[in-house]
Amino acid sequence: MPTEQSTLPIPVADRIDRFSYAIRNIVAEARAVQARGMSVRYMNIGDPVAAGFDTPPHMVEAAERAMRAGHNGYLPSAGLLEAREAVAAEYSGRGVSVSADRVLITDGTSEGIDIALNALVNEGDEVLVPSPTYPLYTAVLAKINATPRYYRTDPERGWCPDLDHLRSLITPRTRVLVVIDPNNPTGAIYPTAVRRELIDLTEKHNLTILADEVYSDLGFDGAVPLLGSMQPDAPIISFSSLSKAYLAPGWRVGWMVVGATPRLDNVLAAVMKLADGRLCSPGPMQFAVTAALTGDRTHQHDFRRALAERGAITAQALNAIPGMRCVPPRAAFYAMPMVSLPPGRTDEDYVLALLRETGILCVYGSGFGMPPELGSFRVVFLANPRELSQIYADIATFTGAYLERAG
Ligand SMILES: Cc1ncc(COP(=O)(O)O)c(C=O)c1O
Repeated sequence: MPTEQSTLPIPVADRIDRFSYAIRNIVAEARAVQARGMSVRYMNIGDPVAAGFDTPPHMVEAAERAMRAGHNGYLPSAGLLEAREAVAAEYSGRGVSVSADRVLITDGTSEGIDIALNALVNEGDEVLVPSPTYPLYTAVLAKINATPRYYRTDPERGWCPDLDHLRSLITPRTRVLVVIDPNNPTGAIYPTAVRRELIDLTEKHNLTILADEVYSDLGFDGAVPLLGSMQPDAPIISFSSLSKAYLAPGWRVGWMVVGATPRLDNVLAAVMKLADGRLCSPGPMQFAVTAALTGDRTHQHDFRRALAERGAITAQALNAIPGMRCVPPRAAFYAMPMVSLPPGRTDEDYVLALLRETGILCVYGSGFGMPPELGSFRVVFLANPRELSQIYADIATFTGAYLERAG
């Protein structure tokens, strides 16, 4: 006799309810719009390759050469030595003197964030994250069951951190300060004085800074100094990758650099221990790290110029819309406009209505930890200028009608 089959659904772990990543979650809604026959213009994801910016050929050749030469086995979990050396040389050349043994090659910045938070944060600990934030930080904290404490960044001051607010959030359980500079989603670059204060604060309270520097090469006026260059022996862990400034997000290769202070030695050991558990990052692409960091970078000059032009179009077009304001971005390919919503409406209401009526897909600010009533949303301005201008014209028409209807 076969045993009677259960029809009960298999339950998932509690952490799934806590976990959220709005940038991709909202795509399900876009698919529904597409299924109704409307074409969707994707302004939700920061992928320069999808927008037509090509990976530099010498990087592709390096990865291909590695595959053809048979480098298809596992690599050391810390990464290919020559890639680690190239990262250490890059950081040292930019004022953060560090040896290759403090570099971990990761599956993109994303894995670095996950590993570092797991190495540093216990269940119930607190982590200071900016509002708005890149949402992976809070998503990882949800898995760890630690608590994000959002410090305000202020659109009136170019989206710089509100240092008094930040200070007021520090408790005995605070372990880490997340600094995303240049910033996604705001396009901000922090002034030197603010960076100095952030470092001083962490020294005073014995915190570690996680410095997300994945956009450090994409300041519109040139590369932005690494945070650690202000104080190379500060407890700073820096992350970056080939995804953005080297135009290879699908390769999933990046790096983590653990600052050269003995205070971080235990953390470095913990990071390497966790890295052992996932064997290694994609092998052939690690050969391209050396090619990227030691080879031709003229593509970055062209890319920065293209981004500066698109950023200016974005601020100009969005600030011309009644009821909307947008701090001009200074780096990367994101801006965070804010629309004055009628009482009772949320940023998500606005973004979903925009999607359903125009097919334009942005991400609502509350997905980045912003208060929903502030009407913020993120635009990714990688599309070509003509397409962007059309999108902003459509956003203007939609917003006029939306606010009129609601008012
Ligand atoms: C601030 C920030 N950190 C990390 C990442 C993840 O990048 P990666 O592709 O290197 O994992 C992104 C991607 O958009 C980002 O904007």
